[in-house]
Amino acid sequence: MKILAIETSCDETAAAIIQGSPKDSKVKVLSSIISSSIKLHAKTEGIIPETAAREQIKYILPVIEAAFMKAGIKMSEKKIPEIDRIAITIGPGLIGSLLVGIETAKTLAFIWKKPIIPVNHLFGHIYANFVKQINRKKEVEFPAIVLVASGGHTDLLLMKSHSNIKWLGGTRDDAAGEAFDKIGRLLKLPYPGGPNIEKAARKGNHTAYNFPRPLIGSSDLDFSFSGLKTAAKREINKISKLNEKKVADLSASVQKAIIDVLVKKTIKAAKRENAKSILLSGGVSANDKLINRFLFEIDKNKLDVNFFVPEKRLCTDNAVMIGSAAFFTGRITPWKDINVNTELYFT
Ligand code: KG4
Ligand code: ZN
Repeated sequence: MKILAIETSCDETAAAIIQGSPKDSKVKVLSSIISSSIKLHAKTEGIIPETAAREQIKYILPVIEAAFMKAGIKMSEKKIPEIDRIAITIGPGLIGSLLVGIETAKTLAFIWKKPIIPVNHLFGHIYANFVKQINRKKEVEFPAIVLVASGGHTDLLLMKSHSNIKWLGGTRDDAAGEAFDKIGRLLKLPYPGGPNIEKAARKGNHTAYNFPRPLIGSSDLDFSFSGLKTAAKREINKISKLNEKKVADLSASVQKAIIDVLVKKTIKAAKRENAKSILLSGGVSANDKLINRFLFEIDKNKLDVNFFVPEKRLCTDNAVMIGSAAFFTGRITPWKDINVNTELYFT
């Protein structure tokens, strides 16, 4: 089965063709095209929703056309492309951006008479772990603990099967990625903060500042990152001139605080639920320090789990993950019933 997947929930316009067959436990990528308006948002030090939506309109059709071309599938005014389904992100995300993708997907489904599958963006992030990767021979075994750490969400989920995904806890305020982005801005690093803090932190000392690790010892599986931003702001305000060394030390210390909490709570969930796998997902999972720390703690805690993290290009927003989620969990829905839905529907 071939699926055209479209993702436009934020500042990336993405389309992909993926292929899966019922006997496979992972899908294959035939093409993946991403056009990002991130440079425009770097100028405004954050995303202005109206600007993001306008960029989506500009790029949506060229990106879809390029995805077909790269996959070697003909698409023209006369030829209906040989795909079996269309998968589309319906939320959460920026409404204007989402609508561009949704209306395009609905129109294509209508004129090409193709079934359409609505996909929750966070399910997409999880299913980036179910895409074929070179050098990965292990299979995800259930129950799995999933950490979704993106710009808008930080959630821990228990996945017992493809049809049984339960929410265990999440952030009470800012998401982990949001904390990286907000602190990055305070440090005058380019947007987005996450990758730039990671880069600056390489030259820094993570013990230079002792930032709070909110909720690290709480009995639940919740997170809170807004206090960290406030603490970082307080330290930054004390500094008369931010030089490279200070930015590096602050970056390393902030990054360490965020990683400590993410890893501690995820390991706690894995132990509690006797997980056989731990899956990372969302933009923050592109962070190498985070990945290495997970590997270290899994070993140290003698956890009998397999650890999965998507390929770097599939950690941040893309359409492959949306196609993958549609393949494993998707329900065909009449196009008239497909609308923006920013709610999460984990049980
Ligand atoms: O999943 P994603 O692409 O978009 C959302 O669904 O939100 O995540 C974007 C977030 C941003 O907050 C960005 O700063 C963060 O992921 N991020 C990182 C890294 N790369 C992206 N955070 C830490 N380290 C990174 N290397
Ligand atoms: Zn995302």
